[in-house]
Parts: sequence; structure tokens; C-alpha cells
Amino acid sequence: MKTILIINGPNLNLLGVRQPHIYGNESMEQYLEFLRECYPDIVIDYFQSNHEGDIIDKLQSVGFDNDNMLGVVLNAGAYTHTSIAIADAIAAMTVKVVEVHISNVWSRETARHTSQLSAVCRGVIAGFGMNSYRLAIEALL
Ligand code: DQA
Repeated sequence: MKTILIINGPNLNLLGVRQPHIYGNESMEQYLEFLRECYPDIVIDYFQSNHEGDIIDKLQSVGFDNDNMLGVVLNAGAYTHTSIAIADAIAAMTVKVVEVHISNVWSRETARHTSQLSAVCRGVIAGFGMNSYRLAIEALL
């Protein structure tokens, strides 16, 4: 079956607990159940890490699987704003990557206005709460 991989970066294991006024009350595990119900014909894999190198290893492990991978939905958390290493990994890949943010990063602190990743991603979806992940999947179908 065709596969989409969702990758969440640092602190996104705390969804549902972390700053609910910004990120909502739902855990990623709850939202994944909903997504898998929405898209029964595709495999939705999920990976979360608080470590930059682990995210890069995961991107590299799927990045050249053009037969099965419809794409990667990547919320790199704060690494979005800092990680040239993750940008380099995405640039090397042949599989598409969509950058996602739950919050509208441009309505927040200026440090969040810059993304190292946007230029090498297929596109960016931000500001729609957890629905940002679903919209990114739609963009990859
Ligand atoms: C985030 C926005 C980032 O600035 C922040 O560091 C996150 C989450 C979002 O989904 O809105 O961890 O990527």
C-alpha cells in the first residue's frame, strides 16, 4: 500500500499537554486514529524524535523510496527555524516533503518567522491546528 510518513520533531510528543492554548488538547496518538480512519487506503506511519540526528536518519531511510512513499509530512518543531542539517537532508531526497505547523508561526515570536526548511520543501501548511497535518496529506495525494 502507498505510504505517508508523518515526522514530528522536538516537544511534539507532548501534544495534548503542552501549551494547549497554542497546540490544542488532542494527543498525536488520538489524531492519528482520526487520520487513519479518514484515509483507510493508505498507510500512515508516524515517527517522533526530540533529536535532530534521528530525524535526519529517518528522512534518509525513506527519502529515496519512490515506489511506496507518497511523501513525508514534517513538523520539525523548533528545528524548523535552526536546522540547516535537516534542510540538507530534505534537499537530497527524491521523496516529497511538506512542512507543517500547528500554529501560525508568523503570528508568534520573530524567531519563528524564519524557516530553514521551506525552500527545500514542496510547500508549507501552518496555522490550522491539528488539521494542518490532514491538509498536508491532501497535498500529497
Ligand atoms: C511548531 C511551531 C514551532 O515554532 C515550535 O517550535 C514547535 C511547533 C508548530 O507546530 O506550530 O515546536 O512547529
